[in-house]
This record gives sequence, structure tokens and C-alpha cells, in this order.
Amino acid sequence: MVTKVFKITGNQKFDSEIIKQAAAILEKGGLVAFPTETVYGLGADALNISAVKKIYKAKQRPSSNPLICHVDSLEMAKKLAVRVPVVFNSLAAKFMPGPLTLLMEKSKAVPTIITAGASKVSVRIPNHKVALALIKALGRAIVAPSANISGRTSPTSAEHVLEDLDGRIDAIIDAGSTTVGVESTVLDITKVPAVIFRPGGVTKEQLEKVIGKVKLYKKTDTEITPSPGMSLKHYSSKSELILVKPDKKSLEAQVSKIKAAVGIMLPRGWDIKLPENSVVYNVGIWGNWKQVASKLFAGLRYLDSQNVNFIICPMPEDRGLGSALRDRLTRASYKDEK
Ligand code: TXA
Ligand code: MG
Repeated sequence: MVTKVFKITGNQKFDSEIIKQAAAILEKGGLVAFPTETVYGLGADALNISAVKKIYKAKQRPSSNPLICHVDSLEMAKKLAVRVPVVFNSLAAKFMPGPLTLLMEKSKAVPTIITAGASKVSVRIPNHKVALALIKALGRAIVAPSANISGRTSPTSAEHVLEDLDGRIDAIIDAGSTTVGVESTVLDITKVPAVIFRPGGVTKEQLEKVIGKVKLYKKTDTEITPSPGMSLKHYSSKSELILVKPDKKSLEAQVSKIKAAVGIMLPRGWDIKLPENSVVYNVGIWGNWKQVASKLFAGLRYLDSQNVNFIICPMPEDRGLGSALRDRLTRASYKDEK
């Protein structure tokens, strides 16, 4: 299969023609990757079961891992749920459209393949005009996981998507790099207090300002995971990722220990001694988590492309967006116990 690349130009007439063509591909049961504010998604018509099956195949994603429904309005979101919890409206008023995905009891209209057999559906309104225009043109929900091969780093540009999925999907709409750079926060609002399954673009602190206490889901050994994408190993780079204490001295000490080719996720302005076989990626101003988030996945992919054996990254603080970054980095560095 040849993957068609549609480039958004900024010319309204031309771009709306692109959206029409991309929606027609979805209508026919094809797969179209598209940008959201977080990462690129791999879209299919949510009501077309054979199209949804193609997503799992293209991504090599286990069928036990459910998909997020992307909608363009609160009305469309509410139709997917059998009951809308009271906190929905206040969260929606504050964070939708935006990087927040809400779990609710699903209505009959939602095919169980999307929820991987579970009773809850996940819904979000992406804050990106291309994504919204595509949903509007199709006229119903688009399911979309991140547009990467399962287990790999999420794509924040069209190039990243093509790296993983060229030839495996019908089309991609290229609108440049995404802005947030880390995936949406997945929040189960059927529980009181609500439970964060995946920290992401909307922080725990922001949520608590609107709905009070929120819990962070922690996997226990005995429990069957209610959000299968939250398994420990995920978001991997190809090179082995080593996390270090976030100070210049610790970073320099770790770098000097490694004799093989090493990639360094280097905060701006940290002048450390660099060995000869090192490659550096500037992750932005340390502490400006918004900026670091927008560069994190691109940095991991870039250093991977430089064929380094190891990537070293300082660990962000457990606060605000920093918590989501710690989550992704911890999963990416997780080693299976043999
Ligand atoms: O920012 C995002 O959320 C991006 C963009 C494209 O919207 N999408 C994304 O999708 O990251 P995905 O499939 O890569 O990650 C969704 C996560 C997975 O960990 C999945 O297990 C969880 O959300 N999830 C989705 N639906 C669920 C459900 N019904 N119940 C429990 N967990 C769910
Ligand atoms: Mg993903």
C-alpha cells in the first residue's frame, strides 16, 4: 500500500479539499493519520468494525488495548455514554477541547471492539483544527490511538508517523509538529474520586482545582489492569534509556561512565564535558515542562536515529506536566525482568 501524504498549506480552499479527501478515505473504511495538539493519531471510523480492526493490525497493537473516541462536540461525546457523571460538565467547560480523555460507561452505540470488551468508553475533543475538521467532515467519532508501532514512542510529527507506518496506512495529514507533545490525561470519571489512569497534558493539579480530590492509579501485582496501555514497559526508544538525577554533576558522571556511543537529552545551558562518541539533543529549558514536553519524544526519536547504544536523560520533577514526563520516561526505561 502506498501511503498518501496530504500537506496542510494554510490556504483555506486547498486545505478544506484535503479534509474532504481524507474524510472520504475514512468513510470507505481506510486509515488516516492526523495531527492533534498532543501527538499524531491513527484514525478510523469508530462505527466501522473492519476499519477499527485495521488499526490494531497496522500498529501491531494487542486487541486487549482499547481506543479513544475523538469527537468534535460535547453532544457527540455524551451520545457515546449511557450515563454522564456530574463532573463531566465542569471538566468539559474547562478542558474541552484539550488534552483530557474521559472514561464513562459506554452506550450501546459503541462497538465493543473499541473498548476491548470493557464497559467503559474513552472520549476526547482534540484541540486542533485539522482534527476537528476531519471529525466534522466524517460526521461521527473517529477512534485514534497514537500513530506509532505499538510500544514505541508516540509521534509528534508526520515524519515520525511515516518512520513507523509508511506503507501500512492509507494516508496522513501533515500539519507540522504537535504543540503539547505528550499524550492526553486519561481520567476515569465513573469513580469518586476520579482516577487518573495516564498522567498527560492536563495536570492533576489543574483537575483538582475544578473537581477536588483526584487519585492517581497505581498498578498492584494482583489486579487485572483496567487500562491495558498502562503496562510498565511502553513508549520505548530503541537504544537503552538511562535516567539520572536532574543535576549537571550526576549527568556528567553517568555520561563519563559509558564507553559506547551515547545520546544525551541535554537541558539548555547545562555545559557538561562531552565524550567524543556522544550526540546531544537540546530538550529545552529545564523546569519549563511545557517546553520539555514538546521536545521529549522528538528527542528520543532523534537520538535513536543516530544509532547510539544508550540515551541518558535527567528525570523531571513530579509536579505539573513534569509528572507526565516522568511517567513516559520511567516506562521507556523499564527493563523486563528475565
Ligand atoms: O493524546 C492522546 O490521547 C492521543 C491522541 C492521538 O489523541 N491518543 C493516544 O491513544 O495516546 P493511545 O491509544 O495511544 O493511548 C490511549 C490510552 C491507552 O493506554 C489505553 O489503554 C487507554 O488510553 N484507554 C483508552 N480507552 C480506554 C478504556 N475504554 N478503558 C481504559 N483505558 C483506556
Ligand atoms: Mg499510544
